[in-house]
Amino acid sequence: KEVVLGIDLGGTNTKFGLVDREGNIIIESSMPTDVHETIGTFQEALYKRSSVLIERANTQLVGVGIGAPNANYYKGTIEYPPNLKWKGITPFVDLFTKYYNVPMVLTNDANAAAIGEMMYGGAKGMRDFIVITLGTGLGSGIVCNGQLLYGHDGFAGELGHSLVNVFGRTCGCGRRGCLETYVSATGIKRTVYKLLADYNGESELVDTSFENLTADQITEAAKRGDKVAIAAFEYTGRILGMKLADAVVHSSPEAIFLFGGLTKADEHIFEPTKRYMEEHMLGIFKGKVKLLVSELNDRNAAVLGAAALVWKEKIH
Ligand code: BGC
Ligand code: NA
Ligand code: ZN
Repeated sequence: KEVVLGIDLGGTNTKFGLVDREGNIIIESSMPTDVHETIGTFQEALYKRSSVLIERANTQLVGVGIGAPNANYYKGTIEYPPNLKWKGITPFVDLFTKYYNVPMVLTNDANAAAIGEMMYGGAKGMRDFIVITLGTGLGSGIVCNGQLLYGHDGFAGELGHSLVNVFGRTCGCGRRGCLETYVSATGIKRTVYKLLADYNGESELVDTSFENLTADQITEAAKRGDKVAIAAFEYTGRILGMKLADAVVHSSPEAIFLFGGLTKADEHIFEPTKRYMEEHMLGIFKGKVKLLVSELNDRNAAVLGAAALVWKEKIH
């Protein structure tokens, strides 16, 4: 059976799977990213592990699709990623051809998620939508007029680094006050730490160190009624809602999909996000943009999307 290897390269872990033309993930696995100091050892480890999958599933590899932060679709490079160890410009595709001799595509991880949503998820049949991925960082894939937005230099759709406050929190990109410093798994942790002081530590989260605190814990605490956790989601939703209202003016989406762990908080995140989005929305767009949860939330949207891109563009 012919398969494409779909790879979702993340700051902490890399997920990968073998995807058939219909979008079924036949087999999948993951490996740590951050233990690899160099791109060389990372690619070699990924090659070895994926080869095991290909053999075990008795499949034939016909393409490789990679979704990664700060990826450039035009050049096959990863450039200055804030949340990866490899700084500067990495010619990812060029280096990876040492191992694979099949068509390869690299795109931004959130762009890959948007393609996945469009082909197999809730955006089927939609021509204008945005997918926001909430993980270590905040990613976005913007589809407009039926096409993924790449822009002049190939980096369009980096909403995670749109500005919330120029004097705000320091960001991995070297600037201050980017959206992802507030709205992401790490952003909400920073918010909890700030709120713990305001609430005199009246929270079940007070005894957990910053390193050990997870977004899932904050979600669980909010569901149990923890005031700090609930306030943290309200604050996160407020900033996200405001910035989504802002994003709408650029591309007039029919829907915005939220993807990732933070969406497990359900109404704790969706209600404030929606409320502030509508509050800040320009009149002509008011009440017209759906805020939805990704239908690929429990599958790997970026693995699927990266593979789908290869099936769509490279294999005929
Ligand atoms: C990166 C984006 C990426 C997002 C999610 C951000 O920090 O700049 O390219 O899509 O994180 O991984
Ligand atoms: Na993007
Ligand atoms: Zn930034």
